[in-house]
Amino acid sequence: MLTFSVQKCLELGQNLNTLSSYKPFSISPAQEPVVYLNGDYLPLSQAHISVLDRGFIFGDGVYEVVPAYAKKLFRLHHHLQRLNDSLSAIRIKNPLTAKQWQQSIEQLIHNNSYIDQSVYLQVTRGAAPRDHSFPHKENPTVFMMTSPLEKPSSEMSISGISAITLNDNRWKNCHIKSISLLPNVLLRQQALDKGAKEAILIRDGYATEGAASNLFIVENDCLVTPPKGPLLLPGITRDLIVEIAKQKNICLKEKNISETELLNAQEIWVTSSTKEIAPVTKLNDKVIADGKPGAHWHKMMQAYQSYKQGLRSNKYPS
Ligand code: PDD
Repeated sequence: MLTFSVQKCLELGQNLNTLSSYKPFSISPAQEPVVYLNGDYLPLSQAHISVLDRGFIFGDGVYEVVPAYAKKLFRLHHHLQRLNDSLSAIRIKNPLTAKQWQQSIEQLIHNNSYIDQSVYLQVTRGAAPRDHSFPHKENPTVFMMTSPLEKPSSEMSISGISAITLNDNRWKNCHIKSISLLPNVLLRQQALDKGAKEAILIRDGYATEGAASNLFIVENDCLVTPPKGPLLLPGITRDLIVEIAKQKNICLKEKNISETELLNAQEIWVTSSTKEIAPVTKLNDKVIADGKPGAHWHKMMQAYQSYKQGLRSNKYPS
């Protein structure tokens, strides 16, 4: 198998350095991540699913990404609630109770070595002969893995990130955290191809969210984020920012953001569980304000970090 692959690489004119950077060959068993598959904890290379899995064939499933800081799950209850909502929207019965989810995720975190982890979990409608209609018998596949969760870079807090606007060409059920992410993948890649980090999506003249993040702007010293609905994902980070703003009497409005408002914003942020709150300092080659993360971002970022710190000291329920 290895010989065949080496030969194939040489045939393709690639050198052995390229081959050795190919991940499955470079992971030694000792450092191999542990994943969860249908109740079992396995080294990544030993976890296999059927090629007939409807997740693979149709993208028929949903997922969550849950951060864990110092091995403690952050806002797990909110992620499990959203998972429940996604599962019922696509008519899959939740295969685990909240307690079972928590225990399995905690075990997985424990089985992996990184201190801060990002837990990816997905539920698909399982393996069945290929047919668009649901299989008669429910047999969902539950898969989970974790990866190291990087802290936001100091570069980001100094210079921010750049983004571009793109037409939101996704379906109209973006509140479901579906594993069918082809539009998001293509949109994010289009942004990267243009040297930007994120695509901010515009539908019918209004900004909805990022390709893999929610959107906030600062307008007249007030935070604004689009209201929840079928055109965007109800982000857990977004909701926490709304909660913090309420607690700290920071002005915040949930209202639609027109493309013009976006382009003229004092500050722009994109938020997600893995990237936290990223300040956008350049949009479509236009520098936002003075090209540095703004004062409102600094204030919110500080509040967000102390909330995380509170979790470490068990101040908040996960
Ligand atoms: N994505 N909107 C979209 C389309 C997203 O994919 C995400 C997150 C968010 C932010 O949601 P949250 O704050 O709950 O992470 C908004 C995850 C991180 C991903 O797909 O990897």
